[in-house]
Amino acid sequence: MSAPKKLFIKTYGCQMNVYDSERMAEALGGQGYETTDRADDADMILLNTCHIREKAAEKVYSELGRFRALKDEKPDLKIGVAGCVAQAEGAEIIKRQPMVDLVVGPQSYHRLPELEAKTQTGAKALDTDFPEEDKFEHLAARPKAKRGPTAFLTVQEGCDKFCAFCVVPYTRGAEVSRPAARVMGEARDLVERGVREITLLGQNVNAYHGHDGGLSGLIRELAGIDGLERIRFTTSHPNDMDDDLIAAHGEVDKLMPYLHLPVQSGSDKVLKAMNRKHTAAHYLRLIERIRAARPDLLLSGDFIVGFPGETEADFQDTLDLVEAVGYGQAYSFKYSARPGTPAAERETVSGDVADERLQRLQALLSKQQRAAQDAMVGREVDVLFEKAGRMDGQMVGKSDHLHAVFVTSDAVKRGDLARVRIVESASNSLSGEVVGPAR
Ligand code: 5AD
Ligand code: SF4
Repeated sequence: MSAPKKLFIKTYGCQMNVYDSERMAEALGGQGYETTDRADDADMILLNTCHIREKAAEKVYSELGRFRALKDEKPDLKIGVAGCVAQAEGAEIIKRQPMVDLVVGPQSYHRLPELEAKTQTGAKALDTDFPEEDKFEHLAARPKAKRGPTAFLTVQEGCDKFCAFCVVPYTRGAEVSRPAARVMGEARDLVERGVREITLLGQNVNAYHGHDGGLSGLIRELAGIDGLERIRFTTSHPNDMDDDLIAAHGEVDKLMPYLHLPVQSGSDKVLKAMNRKHTAAHYLRLIERIRAARPDLLLSGDFIVGFPGETEADFQDTLDLVEAVGYGQAYSFKYSARPGTPAAERETVSGDVADERLQRLQALLSKQQRAAQDAMVGREVDVLFEKAGRMDGQMVGKSDHLHAVFVTSDAVKRGDLARVRIVESASNSLSGEVVGPAR
């Protein structure tokens, strides 16, 4: 048998790309590839790209430029571009960077083996279709090897919401849900391989309709899997938080008390211009109902500042909403015009104004994040340990609320779920002492 070929994948962007990279590595495993974490060691380099914010394509071209020397040294090296930039740019990538051998969009990863074989004949391989067949059904079965205690599992892809700023409906296509039976099968497999926490992924995951009971139906069924201890999901749209999903937060012990629920802006005028189809008051009422179901829920959100037409008063509405909600975690971005989206045609807010607003918003969000963390000091939390820390004897894991928690103890190892008393809060993590097994 010939020695395995080496595959180097660099992943940009969201968690769905992390999941996709794993599945691409598995698909190419059948072609004799093993993964490597060194580009200079690779027989194939794949960039799994993200197109959500500005300059994504430019970054990909400059990253590709950096691989030129490797390709000159090793002409058999294959270079591929996957992900949302591949979808958006298509053949243009090969035109601008002729050393690229393969371009594959997110809906065609199951075709990677054929595409790779084509590159071995010296031809270019391009596939940015939205095929009829379901890529998940055509991907090779997942290997049985042991793996770490946490995993992502994509259950829904694409989006029909068409927020005016967002490329996802164009790069990932229409909303598609995987059938519940398939998801359950993959989840059981993951648990057999050592996974104790699963994060269900979808661009609009709470619109999942592959189960008769929707996302909450799937979560309730997943909770029945012995050995699966924790369930999370991301990312959600406020308008798809139905009554049963809210109720599940109070009823399903394995569903973690953490919710990423982007609102983007606190101004009704801006929300309307963004085509979000809800108001700030609607969002606040929703948060109240979710907190009634699960009072200790930690909320996370996404915000965009400097959206076309945003005035200082609109921005103040965003700050007011943030004050009213109290986020434990948040991501905030300066608006960036994405070609092909409706908002890209509109007049933009000056870059300096947007920068300054972003700073003010981030200061407030960091303060809230720190307060949520500090409030954990003195409390006992369950932590799922994922890996060794940098210091001797140190282990790090995540609490139910997704805080990173460090302990120095030989009583816990990777994959253990333990009860920890929090003693200190640092800028982006907590530290504590193990007090026993998880509750
Ligand atoms: N400009 C800035 N931020 C954006 N996001 C999506 N599109 C854009 C854009 N054009 C942000 C949104 C979304 C998150 C994943 O990225 O806040 O929720
Ligand atoms: Fe993009 Fe999310 Fe809006 Fe869908 S709901 S268009 S993924 S921001």
